Amino acid sequence: MLTKRVEDALNEQIKMEGLSSNFYLAMASWAEQNGYAGVSGFLYKHSDEERFHMLKLVKYMNERDGKVVIPAFEQPRSNYNNVKELFEELYKHEVAVTQSIGELVGVCLEEKDFTTHNFLQWYVSEQLEEEALAKTIIDKIKLMGEDKSTWYHFDRDIMSLTVTSAADGAGAA
Ligand code: FEO
Repeated sequence: MLTKRVEDALNEQIKMEGLSSNFYLAMASWAEQNGYAGVSGFLYKHSDEERFHMLKLVKYMNERDGKVVIPAFEQPRSNYNNVKELFEELYKHEVAVTQSIGELVGVCLEEKDFTTHNFLQWYVSEQLEEEALAKTIIDKIKLMGEDKSTWYHFDRDIMSLTVTSAADGAGAA
């Protein structure tokens, strides 16, 4: 059983993850329309991952006999001036998701729901990685400037970019 507070907070997180999935899907489509095949592939994949984050919460709540609410999602932004602006938005959004996970973990502790608290540790680690990856991408973009050939390489290589979080003891690959 979940307490009402934990249930509400989990439903809020379901909304956040689904919103993230839609947000990145719109970003992926923008990138595809603008000729960034690699960036769009990266974002389509990221969108799928966010949907998986949402599903994982839905399944967990059902397992605990909670009442899942699948929310309506507001229409995400669909236009960007450039790839740098897009990734800055993505980074800001990931920071907000991390904060929301933190608040959810806090609610679980207050409600003494250690099972949900334990389940959420996966999300805590995932956020550490996702924030680090977004930050790595922004740092790379800042170093690139306007040169077309560096953008070509960036778009080609982005799919292979991974980050091992500080918790695992290594840096960006
Ligand atoms: Fe599932 Fe990137 O938040």
